[in-house]
Amino acid sequence: MTKDISWLGENEAGRNWDEVFALFYQKGRGEIFPNELKFWRDLCAGRENVLEIGAGSGFIAEALTDIGIKQLTLIEPEPANLRFLDKVAGKSAQGTRVTVAPVVFQKYSAPAGMLQDVIYMSWDNLVMFKDLESRTGLFKKAAGELKPGGRFAFHISSPAWNRKVYEKLRTPKVFDMDLDQYGKAGILYKIDHVRDNVYNKHIVITLPSGEEHRYLLPTEAISMEEVSGHARAFGLELEKDHADYSGSPASADSDDHVLVYKKRG
Ligand SMILES: C[S@@+](CC[C@H](N)C(=O)[O-])C[C@H]1O[C@@H](n2cnc3c(N)ncnc32)[C@H](O)[C@@H]1O
Repeated sequence: MTKDISWLGENEAGRNWDEVFALFYQKGRGEIFPNELKFWRDLCAGRENVLEIGAGSGFIAEALTDIGIKQLTLIEPEPANLRFLDKVAGKSAQGTRVTVAPVVFQKYSAPAGMLQDVIYMSWDNLVMFKDLESRTGLFKKAAGELKPGGRFAFHISSPAWNRKVYEKLRTPKVFDMDLDQYGKAGILYKIDHVRDNVYNKHIVITLPSGEEHRYLLPTEAISMEEVSGHARAFGLELEKDHADYSGSPASADSDDHVLVYKKRG
């Protein structure tokens, strides 16, 4: 059975494949970019309210529980990820309160009067918002949830970089991964080109029992032009455009953009 991993739903009888995927993601995540966690810690240290859109299994959130944030809100709609986020909530120190909101960001309502100092999304999360309309809605809502002077920070990979990765992964990459209670699983990763800037990423997980599940992640590479247009429309000014998490300046040819926008006011 094929499933779109950004819209996980029911599971076929006998196996919770969402949980298998959550564990696969948790084990494979690691620090994808050098200095990624340092970047988020520096941006969020000492802030009153910080919110993550799509916290997943809490890879970044876990690194933000001891830097003096007062309220850390984690938005994550996928039930299989919530047990990882509950562990993050249990680790908070230095007075940081961690709240998990198990909804999509579009449906999130903040407690009355609460605005954010920082809203962030990790590596390439913008693709979770699948069409122009939902991306426009995302920027509008993020800007509306920020304090004046608050920051909206996220990463995008360029359309050119996506083309390069597609060239490499049109031939499947196959490897093993130890998935704890599920045993040593076979993983197959492959990308198909659908149309200009749109790709289908396939991940097939085969458990030692022979059970197999195919996950599908349709992905549209999003340009800086589009992002700049949304930011302008909702009063967000570009503060940083880096080519990586260490702070190298980005150019039109950069594979990655680590972006920080500041709400006017
Ligand atoms: C690529 S994962 C990133 C997880 C985590 N932030 C990290 O860096 O490891 C994206 C996450 O966004 C969540 N997600 C998908 N659509 C969303 C939406 N509309 N609002 C909030 N989160 C969403 C998914 O369930 C998934 O866990």
